[in-house]
Amino acid sequence: MKAAETIEEIRSAVAEARGAGARLVGLVPTMGALHDGHFSLMDAAGAECEFVVVSLFVNPTQFGPSEDYGEYPRMLERDLAGCESHGVGAVFAPPAAAMYPQGFATTVHTAGVSEPMEGARRPGHFDGVCTVVAKLLNVVGPDVAYFGAKDYQQVAVIRRMVADLDMPVRIAVCPTVREPDGLALSSRNAYLSGEQRAQAPALFESLCLAEEMAGRGERSAGEIAAAIRRHLADRAGLGEVDYVEIVDPDSLRSVETVVAPAVVALAVRFGPTRLIDNTTLPAPPGGLDRARPAV
Ligand code: PAJ
Repeated sequence: MKAAETIEEIRSAVAEARGAGARLVGLVPTMGALHDGHFSLMDAAGAECEFVVVSLFVNPTQFGPSEDYGEYPRMLERDLAGCESHGVGAVFAPPAAAMYPQGFATTVHTAGVSEPMEGARRPGHFDGVCTVVAKLLNVVGPDVAYFGAKDYQQVAVIRRMVADLDMPVRIAVCPTVREPDGLALSSRNAYLSGEQRAQAPALFESLCLAEEMAGRGERSAGEIAAAIRRHLADRAGLGEVDYVEIVDPDSLRSVETVVAPAVVALAVRFGPTRLIDNTTLPAPPGGLDRARPAV
């Protein structure tokens, strides 16, 4: 496995792999502190692509001034070993100055889908994500880039950017990997106290509750959101609900009635640690199914 720190090094590793016959190159962008969620993306990439590149870069531009950029866990040696054991061909772990040299002056801003939910609470966050992902796609030039469904809005924003800027890459989305008790794996779970950790599965439980309600035919987004809030109040008393939203899967605009597939997304703060999760509710019986044209 090649470990590259500069743009030249990673470009030549990819060129060499293509020269040696790799037809599909996959990219898995990460901020390191790798866990099984990240490894599942690498495995999905390895199943489709002859050469897999993982980027490990804690991107300063996507953190707000009061966020955890300085404290974000960094464990390069362990991450490199994890990548190696998942068949990764090359790791790109640049210093911040290689990605944002003196004079850097460009921001990629995707409007619309970046605005609600995370975008409303973390001003500038998706500008940072879009800018760094655009750079990583330009640097590596993958055929496919892999992202986790755990960050649903991030995927929606990146898909929009890739479509709008005609970037020649396919965006692949992989399911959320969870702990046995349902908590979605996240590098930030390490910040939780024992008590907070014990309450954190309430996020997943409340998404399951939403699924059950929708399965029983509940169509009122307000009723589903209220039930989620009640569950979180009962089971995650140490947490503070940031938002519970039920939105259209494409536009991310709030829906009032669940008549087509809808995404339930939530964010809960445990002290300084914000956890997010989401699920997609299928179209209820008799509702509009996007997979089939409504005639
Ligand atoms: P990071 O939080 O390190 O996540 C990297 C990728 O792993 C993202 O696509 C994320 O959705 C996915 N991921 C995280 N937890 C997951 C889980 N439990 N199951 C499945 N996939 C999971 O997201 C970022 O980094 C950054 O914003 C980045 C895209 C790298 C840009 O800096």
